[in-house]
Amino acid sequence: MAKVDVLLGLQWGDEGKGKIVDVLAPKYDVVARFQGGPNAGHTLEFEGIKHVLHQIPSGIFRERTKNIIGNGVVLDPVIFKKEIESLSKFNINLRANLFISKKATLIIPSHRLLDQAFEAAKGENKIGSTLKGIGPSYQDKIGRQGLRVGDILSDNFNDKFNKLAESHLAILKNYPVTFNWPELCEQFFDAVQFLRQFNLVESEYMINNELKAGSTILAEGAQGSLLDIDFGSYPFVTSSNTIAAGACTGLGVAPKHIGEVYGIFKAYSTRVGSGPFPTELLNEEGERMRKEGNEFGSTTGRPRRCGWIDIPALKYSIMINGVTRLLMMKADVLSIFPTIKVCVKYQLKDGTITDMLPYELVHDKILPVYQEFKGWSVPLTHKTGDSLPVELENYIQFIEQELNVPITLVSTGPDRLQTIFRKEVAV
Ligand code: GDP
Ligand code: IMO
Ligand code: MG
Repeated sequence: MAKVDVLLGLQWGDEGKGKIVDVLAPKYDVVARFQGGPNAGHTLEFEGIKHVLHQIPSGIFRERTKNIIGNGVVLDPVIFKKEIESLSKFNINLRANLFISKKATLIIPSHRLLDQAFEAAKGENKIGSTLKGIGPSYQDKIGRQGLRVGDILSDNFNDKFNKLAESHLAILKNYPVTFNWPELCEQFFDAVQFLRQFNLVESEYMINNELKAGSTILAEGAQGSLLDIDFGSYPFVTSSNTIAAGACTGLGVAPKHIGEVYGIFKAYSTRVGSGPFPTELLNEEGERMRKEGNEFGSTTGRPRRCGWIDIPALKYSIMINGVTRLLMMKADVLSIFPTIKVCVKYQLKDGTITDMLPYELVHDKILPVYQEFKGWSVPLTHKTGDSLPVELENYIQFIEQELNVPITLVSTGPDRLQTIFRKEVAV
């Protein structure tokens, strides 16, 4: 039987998942999102077009590829409608190529309001949420009172909606948020009506039948492993399992059907939102990295925090995901630095040197132990087949040795074509 390959971020999100899913999609019959929701912003660039997807899988621009929004996703119909409308100019057969699990959880307008209210109440300790209603909608799912996509087909959907919304509005009375509820409801029901026209499916059957038929399937992760609800820097995390195991629960795929696990990482590190970030550069170097890498959130536009690559964090992510292949993104951004640093270990508060990610990461200041590398100092305009500057090869080989997983792909720019396949093995 065929396998499901998984592609996921090893850092704090925004590693370049959208670009690579789009690059790899021609190899796959199916691309499926398994968790997260409109908090994600996955950017694709080709033929001079730049597009940001939030809930729709990044295989959507490939004619032959079926795209599935799996049961593990939280779906906002209002954002879905906007996304579909912004795709209308691309001549994509969405009715034929897009499938949505009836078991995906719905984000309703009051989830967004609750997200806003809870974040504001946290003050200094705010998570830095994208405010898309992710936490509150997963809360309702786990609390067994959520609404699901399949519910929109039932006769009493309005009653179910009102019941859930009333429970939210009662909570919101205790918070200083203002909103126009009738307007939000109108927008929501209009979007729900729009959603009803799509292929709403039992996606777990669909995926398993595809597997039996020998189809190739790519599971597309959102966020990053260090934002995972269990293994990320809790509480500064998102509300889903972003790791490989999430592909099993978020799609209905048995662990034995998982094939390659592609771990994607930037040649440096970024984080948007609050929480620990040991290699963060709070100086002019960090500013330059942000500018050169255009590190501003794809969903919120917020500036991303920037820093050097963090090997202990990557080792941790590789361990919990069982990564089989590594993909290094945005190597071009480091061209501006004559010297490049790699955090190889951490020094803890008590002086201990370790390459483990300690529980105390969230509370204590942890000092990175750096090893320095000579930069390549030339712009990377390389394309597939070109050889890379020797200093960049040294950098890649060092990281590969430290992580003990082959780096099969290096990305040197946002465009589809700015992708270098490094190994004989297929990516
Ligand atoms: P995702 O959430 O993992 O899909 O990543 P985002 O789309 O949020 O952020 C990645 C950003 O980097 C996007 O603006 C991409 O267009 C851009 N990008 C992807 N790969 C490269 C690369 O190799 N070099 C540069 N300079 N930009 C890249
Ligand atoms: P993609 O898929 C980067 C971050 C937020 C915040 C925390 C919780 O584009 O890589 P949430 O809205 O989930 O309650 O926010 O997680 N975050 C992301 N950071 N990329 C993302 O997605 C993110 N999705 C959420 O900034 O710190
Ligand atoms: Mg993103």
